[in-house]
Amino acid sequence: MDKFVINGGNRLVGEVEISGAKNAAVAIIPATILAEGPCRIENLPNISDVSISFDILREMGATVKTINKNTVEIDTTHVSNPVVPYEMAKHMRASYYFLGALLGRFKRASVAMPGGCDFGVRPIDQHLKGFKSLGAEYSIDYGMIDVTADQLIGSQVYFDVVSVGATINVLLAAVRAKGLTIIENAAKEPHIVDLANFLNSMGAEIMGAGTDVIKIRGVDHLRSTSYSIIPDQIEAGTYMVMAAATKGDVLVKNVIPKHLESITAKLEKMGVEVTEYDDSVRVVSNGKLQKTSVKTLPHPGFPTDMQPQITTLLTLAEGTSIVTEGVWDNRFKYVDELRRMGADISVDGKVAVIEGCGSLTAAPVRATDLRAGAAMVIAALAAQGTTEIEDIYHIERGYEEIVNKLRSLGADIKKISIPGTVLKKAL
Ligand code: EPU
Repeated sequence: MDKFVINGGNRLVGEVEISGAKNAAVAIIPATILAEGPCRIENLPNISDVSISFDILREMGATVKTINKNTVEIDTTHVSNPVVPYEMAKHMRASYYFLGALLGRFKRASVAMPGGCDFGVRPIDQHLKGFKSLGAEYSIDYGMIDVTADQLIGSQVYFDVVSVGATINVLLAAVRAKGLTIIENAAKEPHIVDLANFLNSMGAEIMGAGTDVIKIRGVDHLRSTSYSIIPDQIEAGTYMVMAAATKGDVLVKNVIPKHLESITAKLEKMGVEVTEYDDSVRVVSNGKLQKTSVKTLPHPGFPTDMQPQITTLLTLAEGTSIVTEGVWDNRFKYVDELRRMGADISVDGKVAVIEGCGSLTAAPVRATDLRAGAAMVIAALAAQGTTEIEDIYHIERGYEEIVNKLRSLGADIKKISIPGTVLKKAL
């Protein structure tokens, strides 16, 4: 099994280039199923969630041609079997975006219940409610979700909770429905806007993405397109926190500073200096971090996918901080690992109280999920001594070339592959 070995204590200094957004990529790749002809996608992050999405497309009969490390041409013309079996879907939560895309094109889809990070119950009732509003029937049998429709008809869809996944799935189906669909209480994350821009570049008529009411006028055909994915908000935020945790001075390049505002605001509150440029942010920390309170919320609130990282940073601050998880029921499981590094954190349900102690100590730890894994890397970079992080396949689902990027900033990190052990697949 692969591990990261990190000798902590080095200041991170220099420049880091942020990759394309994972959560946009895993929606845009299935969306190519809707195109009549090949699509060229640029600025794709080279991570395992993207390669799993390609495997699913290939399994269905698509061709995925690599142009370079971050650019592919996808041709879904010969996809004929709208089925994603369990063996493929179990590796990645976002495999359920194939439901919306296949339903849009074939009016039927059969996708196994997805895997993904374990934050407690992860229902899909809002996705199914959305499909039903468009005239589809669904059933769940032996772990397979089957959705079929004679015809998709535009409709009013009101979500009871703000859901990124349900908003994306209904968008994917509604672009090929007859007439107008109105999604109310839609999610507003940057990757929703990116998917809508991608679909519009294929000829879809989507208005209002990025607000809580999205209108979609269905069209009969969607053409091939060429599109470049937005930078990853969470990867950028993670490097910002890494700079803050190591008394660093890092220029985080290829970002949309507007997408980082909620993260920037919290870092500034903690005493970190953040300077915004057109497409980069510079993060400078003198190491004196102040306590603060954070509540995660849907966009434009503080992102839940930055919660483990900011909680880790708060362990290095002076004083008592409170972090409230406002999106997921159970996203503090990694706290046990941080405690092994000397963190003083108590958790009661969705609230964590952090007694900042100004430092952490090295220990053997595990990545319990993707962002929790990023938090372990932050803790290890800041701690004195050598930390070994296991189960790094979680981290590699979402962070392109993290070892090389961190090394170029001066971190002492290496990946150790132990030969003869079977690589665990990302779940
Ligand atoms: N929810 C329902 N019913 C549904 C769908 C969601 O009750 O049908 C609830 C969930 O239980 C949760 C809340 O709504 O409490 C929000 O869930 P959402 O559907 O927005 O999450 P998701 O689409 O499954 C995406 C990201 C996650 C990120 C969340 C929230 C992707 C592939 N995943 O998940 O990203 O945490 O939105 O922003 O886009 C990550 O990148 O590390 C990651 C986990």
